[in-house]
Amino acid sequence: MKKELGFCVVGCGKMGVRRINSVVKHKNSRLISIVDADGKRLNEIYRKYKLKCKKFEDYKKAIDDSDVNCVIVCTPNKFHFPVSIFALSKKKHVLCEKPLAMSPKEALKMVKLSEKNGLFLKTGSNHRFFPNVKRAKEFIEKGVIGNINFIYGEIGHKKSLPDWYKKKDLSGGGTIIDNGVHLIDIARWLCGDFKECYGRVHSMSDTEVEDNGFAFLKSKNKNLFLKSSWNKSNGYMKIEILGERGSLVIECDDGKTKLVHFMDGKNKTYDFSHLPFNSFDLDFEEFVKAVLGNRQPLASGDDGLKAVEIVSAIYRSSKNGKVVSI
Ligand SMILES: NC(=O)c1ccc[n+]([C@@H]2O[C@H](COP(=O)([O-])OP(=O)(O)OC[C@H]3O[C@@H](n4cnc5c(N)ncnc54)[C@H](O)[C@@H]3O)[C@@H](O)[C@H]2O)c1
Repeated sequence: MKKELGFCVVGCGKMGVRRINSVVKHKNSRLISIVDADGKRLNEIYRKYKLKCKKFEDYKKAIDDSDVNCVIVCTPNKFHFPVSIFALSKKKHVLCEKPLAMSPKEALKMVKLSEKNGLFLKTGSNHRFFPNVKRAKEFIEKGVIGNINFIYGEIGHKKSLPDWYKKKDLSGGGTIIDNGVHLIDIARWLCGDFKECYGRVHSMSDTEVEDNGFAFLKSKNKNLFLKSSWNKSNGYMKIEILGERGSLVIECDDGKTKLVHFMDGKNKTYDFSHLPFNSFDLDFEEFVKAVLGNRQPLASGDDGLKAVEIVSAIYRSSKNGKVVSI
């Protein structure tokens, strides 16, 4: 494998622009092409960022190009599956934004095709690269708080969103598949898998998808309570992790990025608020290193599949009012 990877970014909305910026800056990557189904948006981004790459409205033409080694998928959720499957079938590595797909069935097909074709599939997971989340991972791995038995997490915002987020056939769901999926990924990464789930989702507005939801997830030794909302005016994400020897609290609240460690009646705060917001660059760097180093990326396609399985279990549980297996 050569040391420079050629990238095609599909979808030039908010996330696409973030991903384009990471590709352009990285020493081992080259932006070969950008794609957006909306020609006006495509040209706007091309001009605004003074790009020198090719540009297309049709992703198939862009991906089927020998200069392209990797594809980044930043479209509305519905198109994650067809774009990724096409890219993998053309032997391109794929970094697909979260949620990996709208259903576990689609996500599984993506993982299987990447394995069959010997390719790497990464799920977009910039939240794993928040400095407080990374530090919590290091503490947990060193056994600082001992065995974990309870995790409480909340996530959400009250921002206006593009219309497709609120259309079920384009998004697959509301705040749980949009925001909750980040928290699910972090919880699995820090604390392992869950076996069963009880969930409730509902909408306070007239949208087709939920704007509030919660879930109670359980494995043999631990429980997770998660709350996700598009009506959250205070803060963005808070995760409390309780272990037998202490606890950790991850806080991402209006520009503040902190980790608090509680132990023996004392606490110590690690404040990362002064650091630049570079989690998308770090997430991208992880993909490049994994592809060039011939190893699975963090978070892998399989991690994306597991998160989508949990999202789907929450929706199933909410529909039938029962605890469901994951
Ligand atoms: N990691 C994160 O923190 C994070 C945050 C927000 C969104 N996301 C994810 O990123 C993805 C994009 O979200 P966004 O907020 O940037 O949306 P957006 O609406 O801003 O951008 C989507 C773009 O895709 C284009 N598009 C639609 N269908 C297409 C197709 N078939 N082919 C090519 N282009 C197409 C649209 O014209 C639009 O420009 C979503 O999957 C979302 O869940 C991730």
